[in-house]
Amino acid sequence: MVSYSALLTHCKSLLEKPTTDKFARLTEVCVYLQKEVVVYDWVGFYMANHAKKTLHLKAFAGIPTDHEVIPFGKGICGQVAVTNDNFIVDDVSAQDNYIACDMHVKSEIVIPLFSKGENIGQIDIDSNKIKAFTEKDAIFLEQLNTVIAEKLF
Ligand code: SME
Repeated sequence: MVSYSALLTHCKSLLEKPTTDKFARLTEVCVYLQKEVVVYDWVGFYMANHAKKTLHLKAFAGIPTDHEVIPFGKGICGQVAVTNDNFIVDDVSAQDNYIACDMHVKSEIVIPLFSKGENIGQIDIDSNKIKAFTEKDAIFLEQLNTVIAEKLF
């Protein structure tokens, strides 16, 4: 795998591409990360609707999911919408409040995306490998979300 810093540099260049739609740029980031990092089997961005208290899938790479709208509080994603904290799940089968999108998924990481101090969404990554994510992934994805907030929101 290429280094986290090389991943971040390439993601920055994708985010700077002059496409009109910011979610098209986020889709390019998802596609790139899913292709480049072996254990990132599904990569997506859910954005928050604070009035409705729901998360909405706006960009992804990997197999399509039925869960395009997730209420705050439900599943790993919904919990992060409420707590504003990173969430690394080593083994999804050990989680009570978990929404299964694909039976092959074994571990997951969700990192909130903040713009001007507000939790406006999150990056969600699933892996078919157990315990696929470490604190290094969390730090990289926090950095990525900071760049995304600066460039798109
Ligand atoms: N597993 C997530 C739902 C989203 S899918 O992973 C794409 C959750 O429990 O919130």
